[in-house]
Amino acid sequence: MTRQPLQDWCGQALVVGGGGIGRALLDALKRLAPGLEVHLATRNPRAAGEIRVDLCDDASLDALSQHALQHLRRLRLVLNTAGLLHGPQLHPEKRLSSVTRSQLRQSFELNAYGPILLARSLEPALARDMPSHFASLSARVGSISDNRLGGWYAYRAAKAAQNQLLHTLAIEWSRRLPLCCVSALHPGTTATALSEPFRSSVPPNRLLTPEQAAEALLAVLQHLGPEQSGRFWAWDGSAIPW
Ligand SMILES: NC(=O)c1ccc[n+]([C@@H]2O[C@H](COP(=O)([O-])OP(=O)(O)OC[C@H]3O[C@@H](n4cnc5c(N)ncnc54)[C@H](OP(=O)(O)O)[C@@H]3O)[C@@H](O)[C@H]2O)c1
Repeated sequence: MTRQPLQDWCGQALVVGGGGIGRALLDALKRLAPGLEVHLATRNPRAAGEIRVDLCDDASLDALSQHALQHLRRLRLVLNTAGLLHGPQLHPEKRLSSVTRSQLRQSFELNAYGPILLARSLEPALARDMPSHFASLSARVGSISDNRLGGWYAYRAAKAAQNQLLHTLAIEWSRRLPLCCVSALHPGTTATALSEPFRSSVPPNRLLTPEQAAEALLAVLQHLGPEQSGRFWAWDGSAIPW
């Protein structure tokens, strides 16, 4: 199947999650894909037209589903950027003794359950008559075969679970939505609130700005089609093993 360059994409796009990479993707899409009507769904709408959604709340996901059915009937790109690594009650674990049920639950709620429940909510609105993408930001640390350092139990495991859920989704949609490409994406270490406490050991030349990450991720998606559905890609276009 021939790929259309991003500048020729038409239809609607939905970015979910209004964090560093989410808002950079929103801006990059508006700039690089002028034919797309781009929407943002976030817990914290800042501008008119932004849709409110909390991926950890079923009623909120139902409301998004209704909204999509009414207003997003040409949805050809969904980019889920919602994710959580740390918070007031969530501290990436350095050792087993720090692993707790509540931290595992918090991480899985958003990083694992969020993307697949989002897919369920948006499935009826996804375009059937043109190629489409459902992509969700995962993390390289969710790769089991790439895990050499250990630590970060809850985040790693929740991202690994997300990857399995997306791979399973890709198999189902290869039958039900054969023009859709499902992808798990690693954005690279990017200067956002999520990575802020963990960046001291990252050399400046290995740290991406949100704008660089967004453009790189869109460049990757532009080259993917339904034949590549169900895979895990890094920002530079290389495949990451599960
Ligand atoms: N930054 C990195 O170095 C890095 C590396 C590897 C992977 N990633 C992944 O990339 C994704 C984006 O991260 P980021 O760097 O942009 O982090 P970020 O700036 O912290 O953005 C994450 C966003 O997730 C949204 N979110 C949190 N809980 C939510 C919920 N219950 N429902 C809906 N949205 C929720 C929040 O946006 P709202 O304002 O909409 O609430 C938050 O701003 C994450 O999945 C992360 O795991 C990032």
